[in-house]
Amino acid sequence: MLRTAPFKNETLTFSDEGRGRPVVLLHGFLGSHEIWDLARKELSRSYRVISIDLPGHGSTPCFGYAHSMELMAKAVKAVLDYLRLKKYVLVGHSMGGYVALAFADLFPDQVKGLCLFHSTAYADSTEKKADRLRAIDIVKADRALYTRNTIKNLFAAKNLKYLRAEINFANRIARKMSKRGIVAALYGMMDRKGRDLILGLVEYPIMIVIGEHDNIIPATQLIEQSRLLKNPTILYLEHDGHFGFLESPRVCNAALRKFLRKCY
Ligand code: MLT
Repeated sequence: MLRTAPFKNETLTFSDEGRGRPVVLLHGFLGSHEIWDLARKELSRSYRVISIDLPGHGSTPCFGYAHSMELMAKAVKAVLDYLRLKKYVLVGHSMGGYVALAFADLFPDQVKGLCLFHSTAYADSTEKKADRLRAIDIVKADRALYTRNTIKNLFAAKNLKYLRAEINFANRIARKMSKRGIVAALYGMMDRKGRDLILGLVEYPIMIVIGEHDNIIPATQLIEQSRLLKNPTILYLEHDGHFGFLESPRVCNAALRKFLRKCY
């Protein structure tokens, strides 16, 4: 069911399905709550699954010219407070993972578990920041070309010819974004803090999902990062890129279920 919650004189859109312990799904850059359709259907058979359109994505409007990860985390908190939920597991895909980490930093007592799906706790490198600025210029010149090329790059090259429907699905969601929403997310990601310290300190379970063919966040970086964790749950997807839950949904859903049992 699609619902809305108030935030800064505007509304945040989210879906709320199923009953039971809460699981919060946070989409990545150019996504929306819809990108989690398969996971949501599967997990909502046993959990209450809340999937939020982050600022500037899906049906949630923009809140300024740069959407920091902290602003996005506060938007997530506004939804969860509105639903009067106190503790939850956060599952964040890529940028959604940066938001989940900001959330864990700002509101540590609310988190029961954290799944970083193709996401990193490190800040952008100098090179990556320069790429973001170039990306902003491209978005301003040709938004459709930018979103098409970016989405294609999120799948493992060898999966492109098999996953036409999934690529079209992700493109359809990305096409709904405004130039301003895309640029605000790029600035927010570019300026985000490194939060790798959190990984070694927290007591709740953390799961890291790694795609061997991820073009955005190299598998080697995530393997290195997983060594910071006390008791990590690792899902290594040898056939996938940056979109494991679309590239191998069954494997990912089974691993998520197992992880949720560990958290609750
Ligand atoms: C995402 O999928 O959310 C982004 O590609 C993450 C990023 O660009 O750092």
